[in-house]
Amino acid sequence: MADTLTVTDNRTGKTVELPIIDGAIRATGLRQLTLDDEDFGLMSYDPAFLNTASVRSAITFIDGERGILRYRGYPIEQLAERSTYLETAYLLLFGELPTASELEAWVHEITHHTFVHESMKRLMEAFRYDAHPMGMFIASVAALSTFYPEAANVDDAENRLLQAKRLIAKVPTLAAWAYRHSRGLPYVYPDNELGFTGNFLSMMFRMAETRYHATPALERALEVLFILHADHEQNCSANAMRSIGSSKVDPYSALAGAAAALYGPLHGGANEAVLRMLAEIGDVRNVPAYVERVKAGELRLMGFGHRVYKNYDPRAKIIKETADAVFEVTGRNPLLDIALELERIALEDEYFVSRKLYPNVDFYSGLIYQSLGLPTAMFPVLFAIPRTAGWLAQWLEGIVDPEQKIARPRQLYVGAGERDYVPLEERSRELAPA
Ligand code: CMC
Repeated sequence: MADTLTVTDNRTGKTVELPIIDGAIRATGLRQLTLDDEDFGLMSYDPAFLNTASVRSAITFIDGERGILRYRGYPIEQLAERSTYLETAYLLLFGELPTASELEAWVHEITHHTFVHESMKRLMEAFRYDAHPMGMFIASVAALSTFYPEAANVDDAENRLLQAKRLIAKVPTLAAWAYRHSRGLPYVYPDNELGFTGNFLSMMFRMAETRYHATPALERALEVLFILHADHEQNCSANAMRSIGSSKVDPYSALAGAAAALYGPLHGGANEAVLRMLAEIGDVRNVPAYVERVKAGELRLMGFGHRVYKNYDPRAKIIKETADAVFEVTGRNPLLDIALELERIALEDEYFVSRKLYPNVDFYSGLIYQSLGLPTAMFPVLFAIPRTAGWLAQWLEGIVDPEQKIARPRQLYVGAGERDYVPLEERSRELAPA
């Protein structure tokens, strides 16, 4: 049995044989099928990349049908239980779990890159008091490139790594300052004696105390959420990171673009949307009517459905357990009952079952963040902090990929044919586009 695909073009009768490698054919192979010498060749049309692999990647494996997620081969369940965010970030970037000394050096380096230039404070202060923290986050990450112009040299491996460390280390500082700005509170400097998540919580919540100590169970819950959100292969924002990175721009600019992609309600903005939805529903009694509106196509059930997971999202399962641990400390989130009822009804309903719509990672993460005292507008930012490791891993893999070229999809042009310019005085309303 040959690992090939034979394609016959019935317009011309021409047959080509395309090699199948790793379960895929090269789309450019179709170009051999032309109508005449002028013809560019056959293309495949795949809006939203539903069935197009754009890269070969060794970072994250997902089997959506079986609900499997692995970073570098390690099951997400084991990492969530036993790893830390920084160890997981190392794994994503370097491909292997660190040895004890490698981990120590890595943690030390990240910890000592957490400070940002004082001018960043002034940049933050320039925002309105009610600026969305994700807008501030995106802008401040992009601004970092102006402080590190050498980051433009993306062909230098050592330089790339230095910028990656800076980014992983500095994003919590920018995120926390965006929050402090919105509250009119003084910005808190990083505390090098604390761990990654402990330091982040300190920069968020420290007031007059000399040192802020987060409740260990809550700090660990945030750590688990960070591990779960660290990477998710070629999603919208990772694709943005790779696509922007393929122009060889510096990683700060590319990451700002990736963060912008994450901001959207269909991606990282979903957990924020879930909480707004739960608050809008307001009471368990209103759940059935809300579900009916979803089924009528009026609304989407936020936190439900996934492009890849069509069985269950393994992250949602871990998050539900984490939520229980958090609520034990903070008390039950009043919106939890609405969420549970929504999940119960949806999982039994034919509409959701037939479309394979299950709770995704965002369905419960917002409830946890809220119980940790983190405001809703910060949710996409809380997603962006750990995803920085994933974006960087994707970017680094792309940069050294000998097959990487500047991303440039083709299009099927369906617009007007050539026509002559019409002077303004001769134009009528009928000429205006619909
Ligand atoms: N509520 C109600 N119906 C839905 C939902 C939903 N959340 N998601 C999909 N559907 C329906 C959709 O209307 C369509 O029905 P029909 O075939 O009758 O037209 C069918 O399910 C397939 O939907 P689709 O839009 O083709 O699916 P997709 O793979 O393009 O979309 C998704 C994936 C995540 C964008 C979508 O499920 C969605 O909008 N979910 C809500 C937003 C959300 O929770 N996003 C977070 C995703 S996980 C975190 C992350 O990766 O960022």
